[in-house]
Amino acid sequence: MEYDLKNYAVRAPLESLTIAPYICRTPITDTMKTNIVAYYKKHDPFSRYLTTDKRRVKQLSGLYHSNKRYFGRRVLDIACGGGVLGFIIEKRGHSYTGVDINPDMISWAKNNAKKIGSRNRFIKRDATRMKIGGAFDTVCILGNALCHFSTHDLSRILENAATNCRKNAHVIVDYRDMVGLMFAKQWNVGTRLVEKDKGRISTTKRCDTRTGFVVTTTTDLRKKKEVLFAHAIWSPFIIEPIMNDHGWSLVQRSFSKRWSGWLDIYERTI
Ligand SMILES: C[S@@+](CC[C@H](N)C(=O)[O-])C[C@H]1O[C@@H](n2cnc3c(N)ncnc32)[C@H](O)[C@@H]1O
Repeated sequence: MEYDLKNYAVRAPLESLTIAPYICRTPITDTMKTNIVAYYKKHDPFSRYLTTDKRRVKQLSGLYHSNKRYFGRRVLDIACGGGVLGFIIEKRGHSYTGVDINPDMISWAKNNAKKIGSRNRFIKRDATRMKIGGAFDTVCILGNALCHFSTHDLSRILENAATNCRKNAHVIVDYRDMVGLMFAKQWNVGTRLVEKDKGRISTTKRCDTRTGFVVTTTTDLRKKKEVLFAHAIWSPFIIEPIMNDHGWSLVQRSFSKRWSGWLDIYERTI
């Protein structure tokens, strides 16, 4: 199988892929962006991020109710999926804008909004290249959506959000602690996750500490098709200084054992 990683100027089988040391940005994420529809069909079904998934609704309702004081009136949800959060918080009087790069997610969210008479706004856009109009009191990046974003991507998102957010606005973000997992040898190169019931197997191929991504492939056992997935490496000591540099200070942090992830809340101080 060949992946067209044009920024590397190579075409190579994934197994033998080498990364030139002088490339410090993250072209692998460009590949992911074009793979995103396939990824949310084969690796992580997009139905998990819709209001029809009762578990997701329960998780996000719980998150909202436990952190209500940090949700301002106007909420921007980056990488919103099917907009589950928006459909929960609209009932509580919040206005909501969801942005996602995946056309499947956005069209489902828009159709659902139409069906139930919701005023929530959904925009199909790459959040790292996003300049959207409007003012927001809270910016959310939830459901480990940060796994799609490099450190450079997060900086770009924060740069863009700076024009949308006032002082004392909040960012609510969750992310899997990849450094902790790798150090505990719970996620490593060679790790294979076999899900026979779902007909797929995921294999972690390599960890690229120059770009900050772990690369895995998911093979559809029936069709033998591979989907490439790059999972960004995040940990509290990586995200916090980036947030600080953009004028956001940590006000709350909690750890969830369920998915080895952190929920951070930052407040804008400038
Ligand atoms: C794991 S889902 C989380 C969805 C939702 N936030 C939730 O908590 O239910 C991650 C989402 O990130 C979106 N995404 C990935 N890269 C993106 C990008 N560059 N811009 C906008 N959305 C992106 C995916 O399409 C996907 O819907």
